[in-house]
Amino acid sequence: MQVFLKLCLGLVLLVAQYAPGIAVPSSDCPRQCGTVEIPYPFGIGANCSLSVGFNISCKVQDGVSRPFKGDFEVLDISLTHGTLRVFNYITAYCYNASTTSMKFFGRYDGYVGRPSSLYRLSDVQNKFTVIGCNALAFISDYNGTGYQGLGVATCRNLSDLADGSCSGMGCSQTAIPKRMYYYDTTFLKGVNTSEIWEFNPCSYAVLMEAATFRFNTTYINTNKFNDTYNGRVPMILDWAVRDVKSCDVAKQNNTGTYACLSSNSDCVDSTNDQGYTCNCTNGYEGNPYLQDGCKDVNECSHGPCPSDGYCHNIVGEYRCSCRLGKKYVKESNTCNPNTGLIIGVIMGLFGVMVIIMIIVFWGQRIIQTEKLNKVKQEYFRQHGGLILFDRMKSEQGLAFTIFSEAQLIRATDNFNSSRILGKGGHGTVYKGIINNMPVAIKRCAVVDERQKKEFGQEMLILSQINHKHVVKLLGCCLEVEVPILVYEFVLNDTLFELIHGKNHALQISFSTLLRIAHEAAEGLSFLHSFASPPIIHGDVKTSNILLDDNYMAKVSDFGASILAPSDKEQFITMVKGTCGYLDPEYMQTCQLTDKSDVYSFGVILLEILTGQLPLKLEGSEKQRSLALIFLSAMKENNLNDVLVSHVKVQESKELLAGLADLAKKCLDMCGDNRPSMKEVADELNRLRKLSLHPWVRLDVEPEAENLLGRESTRGYDIELSGYPVGESENQPINPRSSYYAR
Ligand SMILES: *[C@@H]1O[C@H](CO)[C@@H](O)[C@H](O)[C@H]1NC(C)=O
Ligand SMILES: *[C@@H]1O[C@H](CO)[C@@H](O)[C@H](O)[C@H]1NC(C)=O
Ligand SMILES: *[C@@H]1O[C@H](CO)[C@@H](O)[C@H](O)[C@H]1NC(C)=O
Ligand SMILES: *[C@@H]1O[C@H](CO)[C@@H](O)[C@H](O)[C@H]1NC(C)=O
Ligand SMILES: *[C@@H]1O[C@H](CO)[C@@H](O)[C@H](O)[C@H]1NC(C)=O
Ligand SMILES: *[C@@H]1O[C@H](CO)[C@@H](O)[C@H](O)[C@H]1NC(C)=O
Ligand SMILES: *[C@@H]1O[C@H](CO)[C@@H](O)[C@H](O)[C@H]1NC(C)=O
Ligand SMILES: *[C@@H]1O[C@H](CO)[C@@H](O)[C@H](O)[C@H]1NC(C)=O
Ligand SMILES: *[C@@H]1O[C@H](CO)[C@@H](O)[C@H](O)[C@H]1NC(C)=O
Ligand SMILES: *[C@@H]1O[C@H](CO)[C@@H](O)[C@H](O)[C@H]1NC(C)=O
Repeated sequence: MQVFLKLCLGLVLLVAQYAPGIAVPSSDCPRQCGTVEIPYPFGIGANCSLSVGFNISCKVQDGVSRPFKGDFEVLDISLTHGTLRVFNYITAYCYNASTTSMKFFGRYDGYVGRPSSLYRLSDVQNKFTVIGCNALAFISDYNGTGYQGLGVATCRNLSDLADGSCSGMGCSQTAIPKRMYYYDTTFLKGVNTSEIWEFNPCSYAVLMEAATFRFNTTYINTNKFNDTYNGRVPMILDWAVRDVKSCDVAKQNNTGTYACLSSNSDCVDSTNDQGYTCNCTNGYEGNPYLQDGCKDVNECSHGPCPSDGYCHNIVGEYRCSCRLGKKYVKESNTCNPNTGLIIGVIMGLFGVMVIIMIIVFWGQRIIQTEKLNKVKQEYFRQHGGLILFDRMKSEQGLAFTIFSEAQLIRATDNFNSSRILGKGGHGTVYKGIINNMPVAIKRCAVVDERQKKEFGQEMLILSQINHKHVVKLLGCCLEVEVPILVYEFVLNDTLFELIHGKNHALQISFSTLLRIAHEAAEGLSFLHSFASPPIIHGDVKTSNILLDDNYMAKVSDFGASILAPSDKEQFITMVKGTCGYLDPEYMQTCQLTDKSDVYSFGVILLEILTGQLPLKLEGSEKQRSLALIFLSAMKENNLNDVLVSHVKVQESKELLAGLADLAKKCLDMCGDNRPSMKEVADELNRLRKLSLHPWVRLDVEPEAENLLGRESTRGYDIELSGYPVGESENQPINPRSSYYAR
């Protein structure tokens, strides 16, 4: 009785005989056998493979070409994994009912392999598989590794079994060790299917690829398992170049047998016994056993990058990138928002905007400045500035300055309200500092369009006026809409303050007032005679007669009349400032003459005589105007009623009568009948001399300075409306005193 049935699987041509050098395979070598590709180092025919071990024979069976390695049909060759997939033969042990005995099926005699063979049974992918309900099979490698394994499969009833389950019931799988190049299979005789042949005639045992096997219950009671691939199943063989132990040795041996010819290839030590295989380096694919066999992989073709990103294939590798504003994160292989970049871009845009805004801002500034300069030039031209400028050039040594607007703004601290010296019908007077010298700067409210062109001319004439009783005009500014005038600054006080000021109305000597009136008349007379047509002051009043340190009179504000508007609406504004002084004739004709100034001066004489304001805010219509009161008093010979009491007592009747008479003449309703300013000045001069007569009491004039130490408001042009009524109004008047006109 035979105890062991032995199957010897001979792995063909296991004796390796290597060519001394690597021959480049001819391009004529067939690379295909049937449907199977045969890549180098494998080959069909002479000089087509790396060595005899890689020789593949291509056989025709049933009219189909099939590649064979020895007895095994080759299904697939893998260069990257170093494997060969072949068909292995199934062994079976079956009960024959007619002979009532067990029979062995399959190959049981074959070659014994050698250690130098290229091929090893894959320990990773193969399992020794036994199928049956009363089966026990050995796998043995006595002459190789010395390994012996056991596969056992049992079952009592088909209903105990399950498809896909191979864990001992009807099916078992056993792993094998590495380095096996040979095995035989033996069924144990005493474990047979003689008792259960009706539902399980055969037991099977085979070393096969585990991944493709799936147990089916029908394998127990039919011959389905054997029939699947004609008594064969797939098995995996590990191949390698095994003439040297490892890659290190292969690379050291420089005799030209190193199989990894491609420059982009790596040597990989075999995982199953000695030897090595070749593999293309990462990022390359192809045949590492051929020169230039490893080609760059287009990794992007299989989309390794995030779907919302970009893939860039570069030699040996690839790069992923993302759209603008996103950042590639390698760890998660995703495109994440790139906050840094976004912030950077925003900051960048912001910076650009700021720069643009600055440019626009400066551009506008420049344009505006140019516009402003143009406007200034236009005004300058309109105001006759060019004519004035030309004349000034020709008349050297003229003490007259054309100021720029900027100069005056600087001088007045941008027309600061704290610098205002006075306000009037014509405009506002500021105190300014130019070249460390105080000046009075008059900024008019309105200007008469018709007068504009002659303005420069007029300024030139006014600038030439040099009289000790006329405030000096230092210059003007023409580059503004309404020209600005710059006068000499007169420190002290006004005649208005002297007469109507609360504290010293009674203390100022009459002769001082008389002198001041005379000086003012001289100044006005000079103005009238200076040029032809005469320069008309137009706004003669006590507040426009300034007093310097020595109480010398200086007529101010004369230039303003040139700017005075002649249309009705603006005229009213002016009247408001000069009520009580205004020539009644002018009211009707709207035409200012030198006699208008004479009339106004007459009112000043009345103020000196009566100590009263030219216009009272109380009383009947007739009693409001000082001129009317005075004239009616003269008519009724009641002059004493209106005169200041102490004057009445102290001054000679002759002097007072002379003054009253002069005033009356000045106040004549008809301008032509009034005396000229020169005549007025001369008459005053005469009357002053009369007052200096020995029998007339003499005042010491400078005494006034001591009395007037107070810092007074500088009324260049103080409006009268709302001004408190002077105390002199309530002075007792002696009704018996009478003065006569000459
Ligand atoms: C491979 O086998 C064929 C026959 O199948 C033979 O002609 C050829 O010489 C062999 N090649 C090598 C390299 O031994
Ligand atoms: C194979 O190569 C050898 C040596 O290079 C040569 O002698 C022989 O003729 C070649 N055989 C074939 C079939 O080309
Ligand atoms: C060869 O490289 C490929 C990919 O690079 C890899 O999958 C494979 O396992 C490698 N083969 C060996 C034998 O190391
Ligand atoms: C059993 O054996 C006989 C005689 O050898 C043979 O003719 C028959 O085919 C066998 N039956 C089976 C199922 O193998
Ligand atoms: C089957 O095995 C039994 C023992 O378990 C033995 O007695 C019998 O002879 C065997 N049958 C055959 C045909 O070998
Ligand atoms: C195993 O090897 C020995 C000698 O090395 C030999 O006698 C024996 O027949 C071999 N066994 C098989 C099953 O080939
Ligand atoms: C299998 O089991 C079923 C129920 O358990 C039984 O009816 C049947 O006879 C059994 N078959 C055999 C061959 O033992
Ligand atoms: C088992 O084999 C039978 C017959 O070929 C088949 O119909 C059945 O689907 C298979 N079962 C599984 C789970 O594969
Ligand atoms: C298995 O199939 C092969 C090929 O068809 C055949 O030669 C062999 O006899 C079969 N084995 C059994 C047990 O049927
Ligand atoms: C190098 O190769 C030659 C012949 O192929 C061999 O004789 C020698 O022993 C090898 N050297 C090493 C270090 O493997």
